[in-house]
Amino acid sequence: MPQTKPQIVTIPKIQDRRGNLSVITTGETVSFDIARAYWIHDIVTGEVRYGHAFRQAHELIVALSGSFEVSTECAGGKFAFMLNRPDRGLYLPPLTWREISDTSSNAVALVVTSTSYSADDYIRDYDIYKQIIVQVQ
Ligand code: TYD
Repeated sequence: MPQTKPQIVTIPKIQDRRGNLSVITTGETVSFDIARAYWIHDIVTGEVRYGHAFRQAHELIVALSGSFEVSTECAGGKFAFMLNRPDRGLYLPPLTWREISDTSSNAVALVVTSTSYSADDYIRDYDIYKQIIVQVQ
């Protein structure tokens, strides 16, 4: 059964005396095929990023460095997550409204996603998002 709510995912960590290496693998860490990775960094203090939903894209977001809050909303309700570990990710299913806020000065947010970039996949208007989400409830 597909996961329809945001969910924290443990990312496997390979540890040895030199330090740690973490890896995200399709079929293990995430259920979707990874098509693209991007990262958000040098976030201006006090700014909110994201502030949209995707129609199709599945995403996993990881705080590679620093910390930030991800506020989400989906058909199942509103959920907030503080991300601050590179071995924890937040899975965001399609039709999840999300915002990143409260970023620390050194925050780097890695996002792996199931789609190529498409402006058409974005829902940027919250009122339109609410209309769509009511239809799927
Ligand atoms: P956007 O996804 O709106 O950023 P945020 O979610 O943090 O608000 O992307 C910002 C800009 O970057 C926007 O003009 C689209 C562009 N962009 C690409 O060209 N390719 C990509 O893969 C991504 C994620 C964004």
